[in-house]
Amino acid sequence: MNTVNRPKITIYIATSIDGYIARQDGSLDWLDRVGGFDDDYGFQKLLDSIDAVILGRNTYEIAATVQDWPYKGKRIIVLSNTLKTVRSEAELFQGDLTQLVNNLHADGIKHVWIDGGVTVSQFLNLQMVDSMTLSVIPVILGSGMPLFSAIGKELSCSLSSSQSYPSGLVQLNYDF
Ligand SMILES: NC(=O)c1ccc[n+]([C@@H]2O[C@H](COP(=O)([O-])OP(=O)(O)OC[C@H]3O[C@@H](n4cnc5c(N)ncnc54)[C@H](OP(=O)(O)O)[C@@H]3O)[C@@H](O)[C@H]2O)c1
Repeated sequence: MNTVNRPKITIYIATSIDGYIARQDGSLDWLDRVGGFDDDYGFQKLLDSIDAVILGRNTYEIAATVQDWPYKGKRIIVLSNTLKTVRSEAELFQGDLTQLVNNLHADGIKHVWIDGGVTVSQFLNLQMVDSMTLSVIPVILGSGMPLFSAIGKELSCSLSSSQSYPSGLVQLNYDF
């Protein structure tokens, strides 16, 4: 996709085999089964490559409870129509995501990580995603919060690489 006039936009997210990113109550304990291995599954490389993160309110609320805030040093934009404030190092946005991306471009932002199921589906719907890394965790959760919502359109992408890890995690890297 043409990212000359806007930042590159990347999805990097872990999913169960059956396509859930969290249990119904939002919990992420099932990710622990691939923790404790040497590899960080490319997470630091992602952090080194981005200058901003856009996350949905639900993801923000979970991340805000983690002692070691994962977005340190990045520009952080939280999407919400209901929150009135966010922590001091973050900013709140509601509304037109194309406008948000244009604003980030004008501010010199080059690469954005988007996080949260509802959030990534909106960007896919707008056809504004350039790369997507899915880390498939070896578990079927049976229910939970879905990675993708129905966007009602078909999008083609190509597999740029894939890797399996001793933990059983399989990582799929796609370009749009
Ligand atoms: N497995 C993983 O790698 C992974 C990664 C990220 C998150 N998660 C988990 O997934 C769950 C959250 O995912 P989620 O699907 O619920 O979605 P989400 O994208 O984190 O949050 C959705 C919320 O974001 C706000 N929002 C989205 N687009 C907006 C827009 N254009 N304007 C204003 N507000 C907007 C809305 O908040 P309001 O209701 O306030 O308007 C919406 O309800 C959490 O449990 C999180 O821990 C897992």
